[in-house]
Amino acid sequence: MKILAIESSCDETATAVVEDGRKVLSSVIASQVEEHKLYGGVVPEIASRRHTEAISQITEQALSDAGCTMDDIDAIAVTAAPGLIGALLVGVNFAKGLSLKFDKPLVPVHHLRSHIASNYITSPDLKPPFLALVVSGGHTHLVEVKSYTEYNIIGCTRDDAAGECMDKSARTLGLPYPGGLNLDKAAASGDPTAYKMPHPRVEGAPYDFSFSGLKTFVINTVHKCEQKGETVSVEDMGASVIAAVVRSLVENTEKAAIEFKYDKIVLAGGVSANSVLRREMQKCCDSHGWELYMPDLKLCGDNAAMVGAQGYYEYIAGSRATLDLNARATMPINEEF
Ligand code: KG4
Ligand code: ZN
Repeated sequence: MKILAIESSCDETATAVVEDGRKVLSSVIASQVEEHKLYGGVVPEIASRRHTEAISQITEQALSDAGCTMDDIDAIAVTAAPGLIGALLVGVNFAKGLSLKFDKPLVPVHHLRSHIASNYITSPDLKPPFLALVVSGGHTHLVEVKSYTEYNIIGCTRDDAAGECMDKSARTLGLPYPGGLNLDKAAASGDPTAYKMPHPRVEGAPYDFSFSGLKTFVINTVHKCEQKGETVSVEDMGASVIAAVVRSLVENTEKAAIEFKYDKIVLAGGVSANSVLRREMQKCCDSHGWELYMPDLKLCGDNAAMVGAQGYYEYIAGSRATLDLNARATMPINEEF
């Protein structure tokens, strides 16, 4: 079956046509990066406006790239939560309009579930159950994926997400938006042991994360150096903060995999593009003989192909939305629409 998928949860307007959850027939992304770069981060009002401007045209584009018309489409999947509420509403309302006009079933998709599903596209042999580390700009979760639509959260961040820590550190170091990617590039030539970073652990919660202390450490160190007239090495500080974030992500994932007996580990979300995380998680999995699945780099960030992949499994599980579907800014991954 063919699904037309729509994603507008943050700053990418994206559409795709995906067949049977695994085969991407087309995938179009209208990125707003250049505009948000002017402000050093995503401006929600601008994001919503740009989604509205782009969505019709890129939907036509996805259909024509796939060699389809709406007659060939069996269902419409749309990201309905979590994300920027104004941004999500653009995709949700557009999808509702298409569903009504063309009389197609409407399937709401959880954004983090779709990030996990990006791996079904990259690795056609991957099937649940497995342990997933979901690391994005707004979320850091360790999740048991029990089936395509059943999840159990075993750990999450108590404060900032890993992506937020990378983005704010990059900004403090004077790197342009998008911070995480530019920090990764700058850090490649840095010394990860140059700065002694805190190693945050959450007392009594071995699978939870805390990244706000690392972010504050970077801010305070940069300010102190500025006051003393000293320069901070962007490369060394970048490498040190990435090493600290990755250490915490890998350590908790390893503990959870041992405790909950998983030998299949899956990375997902924008931060899964990070070169150090990919390398260190691979080392950890190799040392235990575990299989590691990671999305292709082009599927790590927000896109609609992953929404089509998860939408297929939600459809098979019977999920349907009516025209009173609403977008939600927050929603746990294990809740149903
Ligand atoms: O999943 P995503 O595209 O959007 C959200 O759902 O939040 O994730 C975006 C996050 C941002 O924080 C961005 O800085 C981070 O992913 N990111 C990276 C890299 N590429 C993107 N973080 C570290 N290293 C990267 N190479
Ligand atoms: Zn995302």
